[in-house]
Amino acid sequence: MKALMISKDSLLQAEIATQGSARTPAVQLVASRKGLRDAVERQLPEAPELVLLDASDVCGDEAEMVDRLGKLYPAASFMLLTRDPQQDLLIRAMRAGMREVLQLPLAHRAFHEAIDRIEVAAGLSPVHEGKVLAFISCKGGSGATFLSTNFGYALAALADKKVLLIDLHGQFGDATLYVSDQKPAMTLSDICAQISRMDGAFLDSCLVHVASNFGVLAAADDPHRTVDMKPEHMDTILRVARQHYDFVVLDVGRHIDAVSLRALDQADAIYPVLQLALPDIRDGRRLLDILRSLGYPHERIRLIVNRYEKGGKLRLADLEQALGADVVHTVPNDYLSATDSVNQGVPVLQLSRSSLVARSLAELVELVAARRVAESRGLFDRIFGRNEGG
Ligand SMILES: Nc1ncnc2c1ncn2[C@@H]1O[C@H](COP(=O)(O)OP(=O)(O)OP(=O)(O)O)[C@@H](O)[C@H]1O
Ligand SMILES: [Mg+2]
Repeated sequence: MKALMISKDSLLQAEIATQGSARTPAVQLVASRKGLRDAVERQLPEAPELVLLDASDVCGDEAEMVDRLGKLYPAASFMLLTRDPQQDLLIRAMRAGMREVLQLPLAHRAFHEAIDRIEVAAGLSPVHEGKVLAFISCKGGSGATFLSTNFGYALAALADKKVLLIDLHGQFGDATLYVSDQKPAMTLSDICAQISRMDGAFLDSCLVHVASNFGVLAAADDPHRTVDMKPEHMDTILRVARQHYDFVVLDVGRHIDAVSLRALDQADAIYPVLQLALPDIRDGRRLLDILRSLGYPHERIRLIVNRYEKGGKLRLADLEQALGADVVHTVPNDYLSATDSVNQGVPVLQLSRSSLVARSLAELVELVAARRVAESRGLFDRIFGRNEGG
């Protein structure tokens, strides 16, 4: 989308240029004007599709020019940016058809949401919105990394989805090693250090490619914290990721920090992983209390019980009661297959397709991604060749 920016503020212009160029399709600043008068007097030869007007220093006698600007580019969408909204100007802007008003300093998320709305209204882009699914272990070693990485692979392999896994461990992230023997050339902190380059192609170039439709972004490998990773970086990464992948799976470390918190905020579903044992339940309760205190709705939190063995003293119902949340899936204890897979760095579905744990992952894929497949004939049955009736 070609855009005209009207502002004296060169820093704001640079900020918008960066945010705009990170989008797909990009919002391209093709021209700029120092103020309303300048914009009205020097019409662009080719009308822009978007006009961004910084109204912070529009003075009273200039306000009427808002109408003229609107008439100058009747087909354009308008976005008004303002430090303190002036009533009179706002009314004029609304009358001139400017529907998007954003407060300065610019909140990147609000900016992108406004551009999304403009694009949809202009019929420019059918917005592709991938889903973000976060896996988080209630207790160390519950299996969040094993499940998130292998589930990501299964989702790509079985449901033919384009999947990205992001390892959000602040330190000692190891997700890549669970499914690959490649050494990551780039990590999450490298991306944050070059966030202005962020787009689909750049993101893809930073991944360890496990399959053509499954890539892993390795954890920040930066013990000295030389790169300042900010929550806003996460917004940018997830926004681009959603546009380019059907599913973005997060391996969230047990230590929740500002960056992983921002990722959790944006998750469509959160899967706390725990085992059916008292210490896990205790830690699970703490985690769920945190998630609830953050205001995440009940239905977004979906428990997974890993290494589940029927007939134990504790029952699933006890766990559900203790945690006040439903278990959506159980993964059986399958020591040999899991250990082989982890030791070799090969997804369990690839290594032992008919193992209990691989089957369980396929069921989870069906649950999450392939309801429609399930309606015709179970994905599970197709893959493992069970008979229609069996
Ligand atoms: N269903 C399973 N059956 C048997 N073993 C399993 C199963 N799931 C995971 N494991 C084993 O448990 C070990 C720990 O799992 P994993 O590293 O995924 O835990 P985690 O929750 O990510 O731990 P951390 O908190 O350290 O990040 C793995 O080495 C794996 O082999
Ligand atoms: Mg882990």
